[in-house]
Amino acid sequence: MLPTVEWQDDAIVMIDQRKLPGAEVYVKCQTASEVARAIKTMVIRGAPAIGVSAAMGLALGMKKSKATGTAKFAAEFQKTCELLASTRPTAVNLFWAIDRMRKCFAAAVQAGASVDEIKTRLESEARCIHDEDVAACRAIGRLGGELVPQKARILTHCNAGALATAGYGTALGVIRGAIEQGKQVSVFADETRPFLQGARLTAWELTHDGIDTTVITDNMAGTFMRQGMIDLVVVGADRIAANGDVANKVGTYGVAVLAKEHGIPFYVAAPSSTLDLATASGAGIPIEERPIREVTHVRSTRLTPELAKIRNPAFDVTPARYVTAIITERGVWRAPYEDSLRKAIG
Ligand code: MRU
Repeated sequence: MLPTVEWQDDAIVMIDQRKLPGAEVYVKCQTASEVARAIKTMVIRGAPAIGVSAAMGLALGMKKSKATGTAKFAAEFQKTCELLASTRPTAVNLFWAIDRMRKCFAAAVQAGASVDEIKTRLESEARCIHDEDVAACRAIGRLGGELVPQKARILTHCNAGALATAGYGTALGVIRGAIEQGKQVSVFADETRPFLQGARLTAWELTHDGIDTTVITDNMAGTFMRQGMIDLVVVGADRIAANGDVANKVGTYGVAVLAKEHGIPFYVAAPSSTLDLATASGAGIPIEERPIREVTHVRSTRLTPELAKIRNPAFDVTPARYVTAIITERGVWRAPYEDSLRKAIG
């Protein structure tokens, strides 16, 4: 399996996703600030991977703290949580992971643990979050794989694969799960402008696994659906509100509307850490606006005239009515999502 993010000695090592597929370069983060920068600059991306690396960065930062007293250590912990939380606003997995680390910290303090003991507990909690994410993706793959017909042409948008998680993937986990169940699957990968997660990352990891993959530009999805060449759509999510509205990579909404028009199932695959039941609907989900250079340029080549105004919202919200089902590690959840997602949280 592809290593997305892992501990190596006293550092967090991640594959630099900005450089794929041209080069396989690994970035070694020695501090929590370096992890925060890696998240912000998209060295690592994808909702679950962002959460996992934030937890690891927090544990790493605290492990290297020179504070001896609990009060100073706690103040540093708080600052590090704030730093990591400021990196990207949409993926709720980031805040979920930080919250879980905060609870671990509070429980350790409550139990009268020393600074060294707290460090150990934080590191093992971060490792646990990493391993649980891989296990969740595998369960999503098993459950989602069952929804895939024996022979299927699957469209996906962005990258919700091993690279976007601690391993195996959510949407791509469903594809891997279906293949492990003996199904014949081919994949259409939307290129996913402007950052090209589909063309660069999804195509890279699927072809790496020998999975039949065709890259199309985002505006081709409707054409292939109309020609009867897509049997189902599966995508990941950055945040799912209590009513089942789904925030995911910009362009997902258009794919979902097209799928409904053509009677094609539209599945969302995500771990429970992506469920945000405290947010009532998609209207409450903050949408990150990324630097305009991602739109104006490809590498160093300028595409747009200097005078044109540019927008770059990184995510959009797909209303729940377009979502056939949400696949989490605990089950396959259908409308009415207000009820089913409450059960999904357990
Ligand atoms: O901006 P990114 O690359 O972090 O956006 C990623 C996505 O939108 C993914 O589809 C989502 O995080 C799910 S990843 C399992």
